[in-house]
Amino acid sequence: MPQLIKSLLILFSFPFLEKGFQRYKMVVQVVIGEQRGEGVNMAARCFWDADTDNYAQDVFINDSLFCVAMAFGCYFY
Ligand SMILES: *[C@@H]1O[C@H](CO)[C@@H](O)[C@H](O)[C@H]1NC(C)=O
Repeated sequence: MPQLIKSLLILFSFPFLEKGFQRYKMVVQVVIGEQRGEGVNMAARCFWDADTDNYAQDVFINDSLFCVAMAFGCYFY
């Protein structure tokens, strides 16, 4: 499981390694959990500059697991 999360983190980080993002600090979080039919709430709060900073997220769900990947990008002036 740690290897899977590591692979997902690397995959999810690729777009941010492209040209134009060198001055961005990235925070990437991947959460994997067992699907038990229960509800899950996730939330994130960030203190950032709305002009330059942003985030992306994706969710994968099937009958056995759920996976939430989030990436936050903060520009360093
Ligand atoms: C859910 O997805 C995972 C990852 O792709 C896969 O290993 C697993 O077999 C899938 N479960 C079902 C019930 O399809």
